[in-house]
Amino acid sequence: MPVSEKIRASMERSSWIRKMFEEGIERKAKFGAENVFDFSLGNPDLEPPSKTVDILVELAKDPTPGNHAYMPNAGFPETRQAVADYLNTFNGSRASAGDIIMTVGAGGGLNVVFKAILNPQDEVIIPKPYFVEYNSYLDNHQGVPKIVATHPDFSLNLEAISEAVSEKTRAVLINSPNNPTGKVYPKEELAELAKLLVHHGARLGKPIYLVSDEPYRKIVYDGTVVPSVFDAYRESIVVTSFSKDLSLPGERIGYIAANPEISDKVVLIGGMVLCNRILGFVNAPALMQRAIRYLLEDSVDISIYQRRRDIFCEGLEAAGYEFEKPEGAFYLFPRTPVEDDAEFVAALQEENILTVPGKGFGGPGHFRIAYCVEDKVIEKSLPGFKRVMDKYR
Ligand SMILES: Cc1ncc(COP(=O)(O)O)c(C=O)c1O
Repeated sequence: MPVSEKIRASMERSSWIRKMFEEGIERKAKFGAENVFDFSLGNPDLEPPSKTVDILVELAKDPTPGNHAYMPNAGFPETRQAVADYLNTFNGSRASAGDIIMTVGAGGGLNVVFKAILNPQDEVIIPKPYFVEYNSYLDNHQGVPKIVATHPDFSLNLEAISEAVSEKTRAVLINSPNNPTGKVYPKEELAELAKLLVHHGARLGKPIYLVSDEPYRKIVYDGTVVPSVFDAYRESIVVTSFSKDLSLPGERIGYIAANPEISDKVVLIGGMVLCNRILGFVNAPALMQRAIRYLLEDSVDISIYQRRRDIFCEGLEAAGYEFEKPEGAFYLFPRTPVEDDAEFVAALQEENILTVPGKGFGGPGHFRIAYCVEDKVIEKSLPGFKRVMDKYR
């Protein structure tokens, strides 16, 4: 066998993703791409703001020697300072360059955090549904996911989190705005979570980290504000990227920000910087680090995603679907009218509508729609959504 047994097993577990991909390609060839409604991937369709390209062109032409060389593993000091200054515009705390580590996207950042903080078999509590790659990221560093329930509206179930805390708990991992639900955790909920973590941390005699994965922070609707975890809880670490808000997922740029007040900061940051290096990332891409310094306040036009959410919500509601209206990100997570969400997703496929079963996110009885596609794709798909629902009602 060319790969390890573990990777072989992971490949088998994720084969349904490949199957869906293949099914999509097949259907597009058979029915024409314009007649297949692909809502399966969270790959933003909007192009990055034109300012991004202008800055990249300008920076690429800059002949200063060393522009393409290695730099400190945490990233360019000027970029880290710019990120800290930006964070200080909406966090009460005062971050400085030393609190920031530039990373290879949020995925790279999460791996750096977990490699740095986890001892073998340490547990990380994750409310479900959740971004399924978290399982692999934890496994990479011998961590163990402890998946806990949320309430039916996907708000945090603090009792479930509290019950899940054990001697082995190292962190709680949250994602707000959430993939796949679009939920944003309000300030009061974070404050309650913080109280609970302070209590258990004191009881166990060690801090429990709150790791907040926030790549969708800027993608929020109706004036929703994503509250600061730094303001809620001292032992907090934010991981984020520019993949979604600037539509740059292929460029692999993001960062880790540690709460400026976090315990044992020097060792923690030093450990994470080392992990950025020894995981083989070495440092985040140099050109992108230099560019995002000038793009921290920017984003794609979020009103486009809000319009798509509204078209979808209106159409699905009229067709009889039940769902929580997303407050952010670009996903909908409706309930399926049958228990078997894979069966329902297969029925949608017959209408050339490609979605993902909720059980892939630890949320059975639901399915995920990614609406980072053109309005007309959504509009054209709605009659198919209705026909499938009518069959089940
Ligand atoms: C919740 C969540 N976290 C992290 C990531 C990884 O993002 P990046 O491309 O920045 O690694 C994604 C990507 O889809 C995501 O949805």
